Formats: sequence, structure tokens, C-alpha cells
Amino acid sequence: MDSSTRGPAGHDAEDIASAKERGWSDLAPIDDAYQAGEITATEWHAAVLDVIEPAYLNGDNPRAQSGHSGDDTRWREARSLIVDLLPSPGGTFLDIGCANGHLMESLTEWAVEVGITIEPYGVEISAALADLARTRCPQWAGRIWTANAMGWKPPHRFDAVRTGLDYVPADLRGAYVAHLLDQVVAPGGRLIIGVYNEERDRSTTADLLRSCGYTPAGTTARDHRHPKIQYKGLWVANAE
Ligand SMILES: C[S@@+](CC[C@H](N)C(=O)[O-])C[C@H]1O[C@@H](n2cnc3c(N)ncnc32)[C@H](O)[C@@H]1O
Repeated sequence: MDSSTRGPAGHDAEDIASAKERGWSDLAPIDDAYQAGEITATEWHAAVLDVIEPAYLNGDNPRAQSGHSGDDTRWREARSLIVDLLPSPGGTFLDIGCANGHLMESLTEWAVEVGITIEPYGVEISAALADLARTRCPQWAGRIWTANAMGWKPPHRFDAVRTGLDYVPADLRGAYVAHLLDQVVAPGGRLIIGVYNEERDRSTTADLLRSCGYTPAGTTARDHRHPKIQYKGLWVANAE
């Protein structure tokens, strides 16, 4: 989804790019059209959804319906580091881009293992995926909304909010973070960015946040199958 982080040509660079961006390569032409001024931000969101919604809905397991191609072990390797970024002893947690709700389920279980209790909520730009999440997780049906998180004002704010920066076009990422901190994250709460795949020796995402005026308060990382890549996440503290 993030064409701005695509590496230079070359075998190793292609390997790294593919490990970082598995599943998102169809999105480069959409980013290009947006950057060229050929489509608006609203059209960018619609075009991205046209690519990912059918792919997720056709997934034959809960991970695939959340955009992950691995088995349960890999799902845990790729996502459980978010627990490191949660406040202790817990609180409300909003998964922006909750897809079929599988991360809401998994994170709730993984957090309990380390003594953290979260109350999960979700928001999803795809009405069909949000419906799927409500069907799969009927106990949380009343706390899963359909909305574009960019501009969305929830009925209440959350102690921890997770998102990807690539859920908006590249030039809107600073404004997206500002919106989430102003309207979605509770005062004193945490905005969690991740999980994203990044070169072990780079800090592109943290640097992007710093360039927008936000200093990460905490970071985490785990090894990826590709030796030069790590799964990473970070959080930004909201003002009290
Ligand atoms: C890779 S999946 C993440 C699934 C799960 N939350 C996880 O982290 O494994 C990204 C989801 O975010 C949704 N999404 C992307 N942009 C969004 C936005 N601006 N507002 C709400 N949802 C968005 C997509 O439709 C997709 O279901």
C-alpha cells in the first residue's frame, strides 16, 4: 500500500520489497494516480477498497480475511508484538481497519497472557468486512462501526487506538495522526502504529512521524523470516 517505501531495483531490494509489502503490490498504480492528481483522496480510498475487499472476503480462514497469508503460528509472530505497545493494566482498544475482527479476538487473548485486559472495538471502511466482523464476533457487534477513520468522530474516545499510516494517501499521514489524536484517542491514551514490516536498520516510519512533529514514546520489533526485515510497531502518547 505504501509505494513511497519501495526499494530500488535489484534482486535483494526486490526480495526486501516483497517481504515488506506482500499483498499490496496492486496498489502502486492507485498511489501513482493520486500523486499525479488524477484521483481525489475519496477515489483513492474507493480504489484501494476495490482491490482488498474482494481479496479479504474470498479468504478461506480468519487470517486471510484480515489480509494475512500465513498460518496461526505466523499470524501470532506477525501481530502479537502489539501487546508490547498496550497500556498496562489495559483499557479500551480500537482496531482501526478491523477487517473481519480477528485481531480484536487474538489481541484480547494474547494480552490476557501478560495480565493486560482490553475491551476491543473496531472500525472498518468496508461495510462488507464490518458486517463480517459483526457476524463473527456477535458479542462485539455493537462496537464495530463502518467508517473511514480519516475524519470519523467516534461516540467516545479510546485508551489505545491501533492503525496503519498507509490507511490514507501519503501526503495526508500527518493530518491523519493529528485527527486521531484530537478525536479518537483519549487524553493520555496511546496511538499505536503497526504492525509494519521495515528494514532492520531503518526507521522510516518513526522518521516520518518525527517529520510531522510526533515523537514515538515506545517501540517494539520482532524478527521476520527475511533476515533484513523486522516486524515493528510504535506508539505515540496523546496529551493529557
Ligand atoms: C491489513 S488489514 C488489517 C486487519 C487487522 N486490523 C490487522 O491488523 O491484522 C487493513 C484493514 O484496514 C481497512 N482500512 C484501510 N483504510 C481504512 C480507513 N481509512 N478507515 C477504516 N478502515 C480502513 C481495510 O479495509 C482493511 O480491512
